[in-house]
Amino acid sequence: MKAIVVTDQTAGTAGMTLVDRPEPVAAINDVVVQVHASGFTWDELTWPSTWTDRLGRDRAPVIPGQELAGVVIALGYGTTGLSLGQRVFGLTDSYRSGTLAEYVAVEARNLAPLPADVDFTVGASVAMPGLTAWQGLFEHGRLQAGQNVLVHGAAGAVGSMVTQLAREAGAYVIGTGRGSHRQRVLELGAREFLDLENDALEDVGSVDLVFDVFGGDIAKRSAGVVRRGGTLVTIAGPTEARPADGLAIDFVLVPDRAQLGEIVQRVRDGRLWTNIGNISALDDAVAAFNPTKRISGKTIIRVRP
Ligand SMILES: NC(=O)c1ccc[n+]([C@@H]2O[C@H](COP(=O)([O-])OP(=O)(O)OC[C@H]3O[C@@H](n4cnc5c(N)ncnc54)[C@H](OP(=O)(O)O)[C@@H]3O)[C@@H](O)[C@H]2O)c1
Repeated sequence: MKAIVVTDQTAGTAGMTLVDRPEPVAAINDVVVQVHASGFTWDELTWPSTWTDRLGRDRAPVIPGQELAGVVIALGYGTTGLSLGQRVFGLTDSYRSGTLAEYVAVEARNLAPLPADVDFTVGASVAMPGLTAWQGLFEHGRLQAGQNVLVHGAAGAVGSMVTQLAREAGAYVIGTGRGSHRQRVLELGAREFLDLENDALEDVGSVDLVFDVFGGDIAKRSAGVVRRGGTLVTIAGPTEARPADGLAIDFVLVPDRAQLGEIVQRVRDGRLWTNIGNISALDDAVAAFNPTKRISGKTIIRVRP
């Protein structure tokens, strides 16, 4: 099969090459999916799990890409819940071979049915940002209607989902980003916008929940605007940022079939917009991941025309 591989951690996306690789086989509880569309998070090659298996053993050269939508073509021993020929979407295990390939073996529990009226490219684009937003807001952040939430990077892949889901849940959303993102963030449902490059973060007053996608100094300063009993949730890795009298949580999303179902239903209803910046063919994927000009939103690879 055709696949994108990366061998050298230091080379970044410039080290991607399109090669031939053996087709995967389905292990116990796996399905093999014929990939129709694949998604890649821009800094995935910096994640430790991209380069090792669960025992920490080097598995380079690796096939990156964690998000997928496609059709089940084989079932492993003991696999239940999905059937041959079914349209599915979801995530691979980050410690296994990824989805920038014509086929991928993945545990069935990581996937959910993809309704016939949802395009494969849309399915591949919502799994990672949708689950991350859902789990950060409702499981870790315990968001309630009427609360205030500060959403960093609110025009980005994850942030745009966070903004829409928080607004739908009845929260008052303050979105942040670059000045050029203002209009989009307000259209997605934020009530206020903060330009991180020109406005003072501290001017937002106090909020019940911060959803951080940046870490570092922004996470630290954001801890200062969390009101008593509130929560700072970050997806940018472990942080020293701590609200004076609240919780700080960093987490990595987990696949969840029921939540994927909630997310895709909202996409079908037109309640959830997914931020796709570019769609390319697998043959053009290396160039698509090394653009001459930065593209906002996710780059999705249409693996099968
Ligand atoms: N822990 C987890 O489970 C998990 C899951 C998913 C993602 N992540 C991580 O979350 C992070 C965000 O992912 P994403 O896919 O949402 O990325 P993204 O689509 O690039 O979103 C980031 C947003 O922030 C904006 N931004 C970047 N730098 C900024 C700055 N200095 N000032 C103002 N705005 C700025 C970007 O604008 P431009 O597009 O204009 O640059 C974009 O709108 C990544 O590091 C990713 O690895 C973690």
